[in-house]
Amino acid sequence: MTEPGPRTAPSRVRTDIAHNARVWNYWLGGSDHYPVDRVVGDRVTDLYPSIGEVARADRAFLGRAVRHLAGDVGTGQFLDIGTGLPTADNTHEIAQHTAPDARVVYVDNDPIVLAHARSLLTSSPEGATEYIAADARDPERILRGAGRTLDLGRPVAVMMLGILNFILDTEEARSIVRTLMDSLPSGSHLVLTHPTSELGGEGNEAAMRFWNENATPPITARSRSEFASFLDGMDVLEPGIVSCSRWRSGSASRNPGVAQFGAVGRKP
Ligand SMILES: C[S@@+](CC[C@H](N)C(=O)[O-])C[C@H]1O[C@@H](n2cnc3c(N)ncnc32)[C@H](O)[C@@H]1O
Repeated sequence: MTEPGPRTAPSRVRTDIAHNARVWNYWLGGSDHYPVDRVVGDRVTDLYPSIGEVARADRAFLGRAVRHLAGDVGTGQFLDIGTGLPTADNTHEIAQHTAPDARVVYVDNDPIVLAHARSLLTSSPEGATEYIAADARDPERILRGAGRTLDLGRPVAVMMLGILNFILDTEEARSIVRTLMDSLPSGSHLVLTHPTSELGGEGNEAAMRFWNENATPPITARSRSEFASFLDGMDVLEPGIVSCSRWRSGSASRNPGVAQFGAVGRKP
């Protein structure tokens, strides 16, 4: 495992302030959270009752996207940035279920995710998994670390689910995506989810304000056009930019959709 560098979060797990990875785990029904996370998580749910549904829809999208890429597309390499705490159906489990030789590198900057990383390193014998403690704001360092496990001369699926919303400056977020995708060959993919104040997410604004006053890291929603700009220059796979719960879910017509964009782009 790569040691935390200067751009990583403090290595001490802080239990006096709610942390995103732990609250997300709480909303997903996991057990890796502290009282402060539950208090903030419940207050956010009071303000925005569909947040639990958003978290579950995001994970379900992750499963469908990884199965599609590992199976139909034949992508054998995944770089999952903003991994979150281990839960059911982590990226390597889904990918290696379809393609046992899939190689997966996880990246997160939260010390509690690092503390639980062992559960993410249960690779199939044919494949590989690795964990890098690093900040998304340092994509060069992530690429250097990932290159020890992945062949960066071959296509990679870069997964950034629910993480660009923590890079508050949109130009900085775009630059991170560009640095990553510019370093990877044609046929690489970018898998994204991101909260929005569109798609019925207006009610999330008060919840996000509460979050930013009481928890860490601060978060922002983005419009469809801001989200689309992360995919500039890429071919966006069908069905395009939609609520992540409607992406290839087979129930799009019946599914009203959560306020979280999801999309997969392919580098031409
Ligand atoms: C909302 S969770 C999403 C987890 C997972 N990708 C999913 O979709 O279920 C966001 C994750 O991103 C991590 N994160 C937030 N900001 C980050 C940053 N600047 N660098 C690396 N990881 C970050 C958090 O620690 C958390 O684990």
